[in-house]
Amino acid sequence: MPAKKLKIGVVGCGAIGSRIAYSVKKELKNCCQLTGIYDIDIRKVEELQKKLKLKNIAKSSLEELIRNCDCMIEAVNAKNTKTIIKKALMSKKSVLAMSVGKLLNAADLFRLAQKNHTHLLIPSGAIAGIDAIKAASLKTVKKLTLTTRKPPRGLKDNPYLVQKGFDLENIKKETVLFDGNVNEAVKCFPQNINVAATLAMASHLKTKLRIRILTSPRYKTNSHEIEMAGDFGTLITRTENVPCPDNPKTSYLAVLSGIQTLKQYCLGLSIGT
Ligand SMILES: NC(=O)c1ccc[n+]([C@@H]2O[C@H](COP(=O)([O-])OP(=O)(O)OC[C@H]3O[C@@H](n4cnc5c(N)ncnc54)[C@H](O)[C@@H]3O)[C@@H](O)[C@H]2O)c1
Repeated sequence: MPAKKLKIGVVGCGAIGSRIAYSVKKELKNCCQLTGIYDIDIRKVEELQKKLKLKNIAKSSLEELIRNCDCMIEAVNAKNTKTIIKKALMSKKSVLAMSVGKLLNAADLFRLAQKNHTHLLIPSGAIAGIDAIKAASLKTVKKLTLTTRKPPRGLKDNPYLVQKGFDLENIKKETVLFDGNVNEAVKCFPQNINVAATLAMASHLKTKLRIRILTSPRYKTNSHEIEMAGDFGTLITRTENVPCPDNPKTSYLAVLSGIQTLKQYCLGLSIGT
């Protein structure tokens, strides 16, 4: 057990931020402590503080949250996510980032973390195989694909699908909604396809990576299938993810992956590749 508990600040009190905050209080209580929560919606902060039965953790600004933590958990659904992460890194605080899609073209933030001797942590999310993919991509890779299958309700109100004329409520059979590269995927599905960005960053194979997104009324889970072939051999992984009860667009495994990444960081442990 570490001598000093790491101080954790959570920005974004939605589905992921709330669950990570609970875990810091419960399962991770031996290695870290929750010192702050912040959200642009003050009601969410107050509600979460009440549910957690903790006093003085509600912060009224991002700056106050950053001042009071060693590691900031980013779990926001915002246009300025990069700025939020940058502020913490500039203050030499580590960041565990959930909005990975926003980091796809953010080499400056990784450089900043390195310069300030701090950490920018990216959980695997709701996919399996990141450990092997990182190792395999050190040598030649011929193929890398991600096929994501989501029930129609998990894609509700997506502006790209509306613009393309997809009527999700009336789709009767398996339908390909998207087939393209990772930059386009993250742009068109910012709330649904963070795992594509995680895969691109872990493999450094942005141009080779092909993303397909399918839906069908028969799908009951969010599934992600990865296929890779190269010098190492071949790899196929598939997760069948239960949606997070608080937000159907988020897979429960993504939340658990964030919690495990934080735990390993607090314990100074790194297992896998
Ligand atoms: N890495 C992964 O595998 C993965 C998986 C699922 C979701 N995500 C991402 O994680 C993020 C959080 O997901 P969620 O399901 O908790 O979303 P959510 O919508 O349930 O919660 C997001 C919260 O952010 C708050 N917020 C918005 N703008 C803010 C700002 N400027 N400052 C502070 N708070 C702000 C909202 O009020 C809301 O409470 C999203 O960006 C989502 O795309 C990542």
